[in-house]
Parts: sequence; C-alpha cells; structure tokens
Amino acid sequence: MNDIIVKKIEELKKSKNAIIAAHYYAPPQAQQVADFVGDSYYLAKQAKNTDADIVVFCGVGFMGESVKILNPYKRVFMPDINADCAMAHMADVERIKQLRNEHDDLAVVCYINSTAALKCHSDVCVTSSNAVKIVKSLPNKNIFFIPDKNLGSFVAAQLPEKNIILNDGCCPIHDAVTPEQVHLSKAEHPNALVLTHPECRSEILEMSDFIGSTADIIRFANENDSDEFIICTEDGVGFELHSKNPSKKFYFVSKELCCKDMKLNTLDKILRVLENEENEIFIDDKTRAKAIAPLDRMLELAE
Ligand code: 13P
Ligand code: SF4
Repeated sequence: MNDIIVKKIEELKKSKNAIIAAHYYAPPQAQQVADFVGDSYYLAKQAKNTDADIVVFCGVGFMGESVKILNPYKRVFMPDINADCAMAHMADVERIKQLRNEHDDLAVVCYINSTAALKCHSDVCVTSSNAVKIVKSLPNKNIFFIPDKNLGSFVAAQLPEKNIILNDGCCPIHDAVTPEQVHLSKAEHPNALVLTHPECRSEILEMSDFIGSTADIIRFANENDSDEFIICTEDGVGFELHSKNPSKKFYFVSKELCCKDMKLNTLDKILRVLENEENEIFIDDKTRAKAIAPLDRMLELAE
C-alpha cells in the first residue's frame, strides 16, 4: 500500500515541480519521500534556494509560515494544517512593547519557533543551531529572548556580557525531561554519552555530554566513536540516527518525547495535498513585509 502511495507522490512531485521538505521529527515515511530533511535552520535555507514551484512542508505551522515568508512567489502547503508548535504562541506583543520602552538598546531575539505575528515585532530570528553565534554578534547589551526560556538561558550562560531577559515559554515536550530520567538512563547505560537539545531545562543540559540542534545531535552521533548514546530530544531523530549508524545504540531518555503535531505529517496526507492542493499557507503582505526582516537577518548573521 505504502509503495503505491510513494509512487504517486513521486509522480506528482515531477509533474507539478514540487519538493517535499521534512523536519527530523516528522514520521519516517515523510522523511523517506522528502527531498530535504533537516533541522529548522537548514530547512529555512534550503527552501529559500529551491527552484520548485511548490513546497510541501512536513513540519509544524511556524516552519511552513517561515518558508512562505521567505518565498512569497512559491506555493507552500502543509500535509496537516493543524500541525502546530505549542511554544510558538508563548510570547506576548505587549510585553515586547513594554520592554522596548524600558531599554533603549533592546534587541528582541526570536527563536524561529514562533508565530509570524511575533516575528513582526522582533529584530532577529535564531534557531537552536545558531542562537549563541547570532546573539553574540549583536551590538545590543539588552536582549529579550522569546519564546523559549530554556534556549534563552542556554544562550545567557554562554554570553555573560549580555543582559538576557527571559520569557516564560517553553516546549512542553523537552521541558518535561527530568534529572531523574537522565540518572536512570545513565545507570542503565553507563557507557552512553548524553546528547541533548537546548530546549531542555538547564539541569538536563548540565548532565549532558553534548548540546545541540537536531542536526548537531545527529552529526555528533555520526562522528563520535562511542557505540551508545542517550538522546534527550524528540523521538523522530531516531530514524536518521539508526539509518546512518546501524551498529550504534540509541536510548531515548523518556517514552514521552513525542511531538504529536509533527506526527500529523503522514504519507496519505502528503499525497492528498499534492493531489488536491489543499492546506496552502497564505501570509498577508503587511505581515510578510515585517516578518521577513528578522528571518533575513538570521540568514545573513548565521553565515
Ligand atoms: P531544531 O532547530 O533543532 O531542528 O529544532 C526544532 C524544534 O522544534 C525542536 O523542538
Ligand atoms: Fe514545538 Fe516542541 Fe514540537 Fe519542537 S518538539 S515543534 S518545540 S512542540
């Protein structure tokens, strides 16, 4: 059954000059039919460079929105329009305005996991793979980091010269990892290295051997000589980790590390959007004109 769906998807990709982009958290079947699989930064960059007329984005809402903002003349679709990132909504425009009044030199640094509306009020976007580099390069001392308090405190710990004001938002999945789970996993697998996404709490980061984006975690595991790794990020990365490293062992620190929204990107829905051209992303001109500036600045500063 899947073979027939995959064949139809491949035919439609050709006939419609479409590409499929998938985040590492998307289901394995989506990653298998994708032309690009990567972390948020890589996908934002690739989508900007593609010649395709149609991009089907297997991720969550803010990712599809970012592709559309960066590529206004391409048609961008999502297999499931309800796939959303809870954290993307966890910041408040009024608080941004208030802090801008309080600090003359404030830079609002917006983790890409945020709505287009929040990006409109931000100075620069970052992803987990470039946040430290970009914040360090800003001339501003006062930084309001939205929406993720965990990534924000990871950046703050490395840049003591900055005054980083944290916002009360987080990823409910990564934030739920506990030190007890890490201790338990380490006791079960004493030789394993702990690889962690910076959306986890600082206590977890302190117990880790490596901290990085999804792509950084995969790269580290590919290149490191160890045979065993404890993984503190969403379980979708397991597909790439196992495919690239069949002889290595990967233990997810908790069974709860599953982003249900990412799993909405199923093969049958990918086929349906390619066939019917439903679930298109539209961004109004006013929002796009404002939201593109922090995304472009990220692409410039991350290089
Ligand atoms: P990456 O930027 O590491 O791909 O992470 C995105 C994300 O949503 C993590 O929860
Ligand atoms: Fe958002 Fe968390 Fe899902 Fe990443 S894992 S998309 S931050 S809810």
